[in-house]
Amino acid sequence: MIIEPRIRGFICLTSHPQGCEQNVINQINYIKSKKAIDGGPVKVLVIGASTGFGLASRITSAFGSDASTVGVYFEKPPAPGKPGSAGWYNTAAFEKQAHEAGLYAKSINGDAFSDEIKAKTIALIKKDLGQVDLVVYSLASPRRTHPKTGVAHNSVIKPIGEVFTNKTVDFHTGVVSEISINPATEEEIANTVEVMGGEDWGMWIDEMKAANVLANGVLTVAYSYIGPALTEKVYRKGTIGRAKDHLEATAFEINDKLKDIDGKALISVNKALVTQASSAIPVIPLYISLLYKVMKEEGIHEGCIEQIQRLFEQRLYNGGTIPTDEKGRVRIDDWEMRPDVQAKVDELWKEADTEALASIGDLAGYRSDFMNLFGFEVPGVTYGIEVDEMVQVSGLV
Ligand code: NAD
Ligand code: NA
Repeated sequence: MIIEPRIRGFICLTSHPQGCEQNVINQINYIKSKKAIDGGPVKVLVIGASTGFGLASRITSAFGSDASTVGVYFEKPPAPGKPGSAGWYNTAAFEKQAHEAGLYAKSINGDAFSDEIKAKTIALIKKDLGQVDLVVYSLASPRRTHPKTGVAHNSVIKPIGEVFTNKTVDFHTGVVSEISINPATEEEIANTVEVMGGEDWGMWIDEMKAANVLANGVLTVAYSYIGPALTEKVYRKGTIGRAKDHLEATAFEINDKLKDIDGKALISVNKALVTQASSAIPVIPLYISLLYKVMKEEGIHEGCIEQIQRLFEQRLYNGGTIPTDEKGRVRIDDWEMRPDVQAKVDELWKEADTEALASIGDLAGYRSDFMNLFGFEVPGVTYGIEVDEMVQVSGLV
C-alpha cells in the first residue's frame, strides 16, 4: 500500500515501515560510530523497548556492548491495508539488524502492567538467558489496569493547587496561544501516580528477583524528567511530577531489596525530547522548540540515542563510580539545565508569539522530529510508493 501520514492532534494514525527502519539504522550507526562500551551490559531486559528512550536503550545495549536483549512493549501489528504502529516497525527493524549481527533479540508485545506479561517475560528470560544484568524501565502510558485490583487508572497532565496559565504552541500550525489548565483533583493525582509512579517497576523487580532471573550485581534504571521553572507548574510540580516523585522514591526501595545480590536501582533524569509521550503535554512543545534552537546553536543538541549512549558510556558503565546528584539521581539532562542555556530559553520565552516563533524557535526541528517518530520525512526514504505494510517482528514470542 502507499502509506501517507494521517495526523490527528498530537498523534499520527499511520506509520511508515521504511522510515521507521531507516530511523533504527541511523541509531545503530550512531552507536557503531562510537567506541564499544567497556564493561557494558550483557543480558538486558527493556520494558518499553519500542520507541523513544527505551528503544535507544535497547540499541545502545545491543550495538554498544553486544548485549542479548529482550524487549517488552505494547504496539499494534499491521493488518492488510492498515499499517502497524511505529514501535512495531521499529522493533521489526531492530531485530532484523540484531539477528543479522548475530545478536540474541526477542520481544513480547502486550501490557507490561499485567501479571501475565511479567510471567511470560520471566519465563522467556529463564529459558533463553538465565538471568539479566540490566533492566531498563521506560514505560510511558496514559493508563494502567492494576493487576491486583483490576481497576483501570487514567493519568492526567494537570497542575496541582491552582489554575496554570501560560503559552503553548500548536506545533502543526505554529500558532502560539494562551492555555489555562484547571488543577487536578486528589483522585486525579492518585490515578496519575498509579499509572506513571514506581509501583509497577517495583512489581517487575520483585517478581524477577523471586524467580531468580536477576544476576548478581544487576542494575535497574528508570527514566525521569525535571525541567525548568517555566514548565514546573504543569510538569514537575503537577500530577506527572507527583508520579515522578513516586518513581524516584521507589528507586530507593528497590535499591534496598537488591542489596543482597549486590544490585542497584537508579533514576536517570533525561533531557526533554520530542516523543509520542511528550508531544501530548501542553506547554512542553513550545519549550522544546525554543530549547532545540538554543541547544543546536550551542552544538549540544541530542536525541534519544545520543542521550542514552552518553548515559551508558559516561555514567552507568564508566568503569568507576556512577555520578549522581544530591538526591541520588543520574543526570543526563545536564546540558539542557545549563544556566546559560536556560537563561537564553527564558529570554526567548518572553518574545514567543505566533509571529516571532518561526525565527526564534526551532519549530521546523520539532515538526520533523514528530514526523520522524512515525517514519515520515526521514531523509533517504522514498515516499508515495507501494510498500509492504505486513512487516513482521522476527523475534516476537
Ligand atoms: P515513548 O512513548 O516513546 O515510549 C513508551 C514505551 O512504552 C513504548 O515502547 C510503548 O510501547 C511502551 N508502553 C506503553 N504502555 C505500555 C504497556 N501498557 N505495556 C507495555 N509497553 C507499554 O516514551 P518516552 O518519551 O521514551 O518515555 C519513556 C520514559 O522516559 C518515561 O518514563 C518518560 O517520562 C521518560 N522521559 C521522557 C522525556 C521526554 O522528553 N520524552 C524526558 C525525560 C524522561
Ligand atoms: Na521508551
